[in-house]
Amino acid sequence: MEELRSIQWFPGHMTKTKRKIESQLKLIDAVAILLDARIPFSSCNPDLRSIINNKPRLVVLNKCDMADPAETKRWIALFRQKNIAAIALDCKTGKGLNAFIPTVKQVLADRISAWEEKGMKGRTIKVMVVGIPNVGKSSFINRMSKQNRAKVEDRPGVTRGNQWYTIGKGFDLLDTPGVLWPKFEDALVGEKLAFIGSVKDEITDTEHLSGRLLEYLRDNYSAPLCSRYKLEEAAIAGLQGYEILEMIGRKRGMLISGGETDTSRAAAAVLDEFRNATLGKITMDKAAEHTDVRI
Ligand code: G4P
Repeated sequence: MEELRSIQWFPGHMTKTKRKIESQLKLIDAVAILLDARIPFSSCNPDLRSIINNKPRLVVLNKCDMADPAETKRWIALFRQKNIAAIALDCKTGKGLNAFIPTVKQVLADRISAWEEKGMKGRTIKVMVVGIPNVGKSSFINRMSKQNRAKVEDRPGVTRGNQWYTIGKGFDLLDTPGVLWPKFEDALVGEKLAFIGSVKDEITDTEHLSGRLLEYLRDNYSAPLCSRYKLEEAAIAGLQGYEILEMIGRKRGMLISGGETDTSRAAAAVLDEFRNATLGKITMDKAAEHTDVRI
């Protein structure tokens, strides 16, 4: 994807974020890393490990309502195998939220015992929440703090302040001081982020993007794709994404004057239906292909 590869992903912004996070590390006990359960690898900032240094951490696979449940289980097993606590979460319904505090306590078990030995029983536990834009940080904090204060525009260039939220007796969350973009050196990472809507559509060519998505789905999830758009597997084998897009547009009667297919409308429909999981629960990063993941 030429246009994604060529975009400058705000390196200055990242440096500022890195510095801000580093300066807050001394105030917190653990880091909750929110990843998108549909792309746990691609939604992870590869520099995070060096930024948070050796702070205790846990992985939260958010939006698991839209991910393939079997694959989410594999990812959690993979993280646990690497001694990284991991839970699956659905902030839309709140499913999985109850596991958060116990998991943090488990991660900090040694420290909590040490505090207790020093007479600091019930010391407030402070956790920093990090994750790329749109992964659900505000929704998570809102859910946990049962308030509606966390909604902050989180786009490159828009600063969000550091904010603490009390989510229960003796438990505080710190909103990320800054924006953590992943690296887009791997073009496929950029594409997957664009597929799920983490990269603004205004800076991508949606017809090209949906064409790439259709090729990906044809190669990896052909059954739900064909059933949703009434396509024959044999008929789309070997086609370019744009040709599949045209086929879908025609089948849906999306035409413009002169009888041409309205591929722009078809692209918007395909992206929308993928992003709201109408096409099914799909995970695009497979745990088995990322066994060397490090966080
Ligand atoms: P951010 O702070 O990390 O940028 O993310 P935010 O909480 O703003 O969430 C981004 C979008 O993802 C929101 O949708 C939010 O509702 C949705 N979302 C968050 N967690 C989940 C989840 O577990 N499952 C699903 N399906 N969606 C989730 P939006 O369309 O931008 O806003 P709205 O529809 O909530 O108004």
